[in-house]
Amino acid sequence: MAAPVVDADYLRQVDRARRHLRALISSKGCAPIMLRLAWHDAGTYDVNTKTGGANGSIRYEEEYTHGSNAGLKIAIDLLEPIKAKNPKITYADLYQLAGVVAVEVTGGPTVEFIPGRRDSSVCPREGRLPDAKKGALHLRDIFYRMGLSDKDIVALSGGHTLGRAHPERSGFEGAWTQEPLKFDNSYFLELLKGEFEGLLKLPTDKALLEDPAFRRYVELYARDEDAFFKDYAESHKKLSELGFTPR
Ligand code: HEM
Repeated sequence: MAAPVVDADYLRQVDRARRHLRALISSKGCAPIMLRLAWHDAGTYDVNTKTGGANGSIRYEEEYTHGSNAGLKIAIDLLEPIKAKNPKITYADLYQLAGVVAVEVTGGPTVEFIPGRRDSSVCPREGRLPDAKKGALHLRDIFYRMGLSDKDIVALSGGHTLGRAHPERSGFEGAWTQEPLKFDNSYFLELLKGEFEGLLKLPTDKALLEDPAFRRYVELYARDEDAFFKDYAESHKKLSELGFTPR
């Protein structure tokens, strides 16, 4: 589909959608699932074939029924009224804006948002998102395919400061942190504390401790929240722009 024309009216609708998203996300406490929706739309990107990415294709049944997207239809439906009130905004932009606002309203860093993503009706094949049961090698396979780095992998994994796993969605259960509606560096602090806390640690979370290159960042982000916020904001912006070149 053609790129949207980002004129003054488009920008006005982006501003209004931002306000609508703040209200929705704070009243429904749905920041975690909004961040997960944004990440799963964008994270299908393949830097070699230039397919997938932040293009709104997750709105189609073909894609939201992929095993790794279980539960995300809830977020898609919650955003429909905002799309209806701001019809110029592409789904691709709206989903990424929802991710950015989710981080902002829960106390995280401001992630720069540039509008103009085009919508696609082409869904990627299943299997492009990471498998939580695997290790460091798999994380690198998946994130390098997106064109992202080791630092991006660790910083973005800090997104698990928000939310929880649901047995009926992923087969895993529980939150990563004591306050899953607060965006801070507690994911890294809990990771370093080890298993005894009763909080969730996926095999892919533990892989960040075992791999020395990843662990360096875990330790940095645990002791320095400002460093985490700075790197997270950069990595999140990159993720939100996979397959999109802002003008
Ligand atoms: C939830 C895996 C990276 C944000 C989950 C869940 C799994 C998972 C299994 C539980 C889903 C459920 O049962 O509801 C992974 C793996 C990753 C990864 C293997 C590889 C590094 C990320 C990234 C972000 C992110 C990069 C965002 C920057 C979230 C959020 C939730 C979540 C916010 C909570 C959703 C909710 O509470 O409904 N992830 N994830 N994840 N993930 Fe990830």
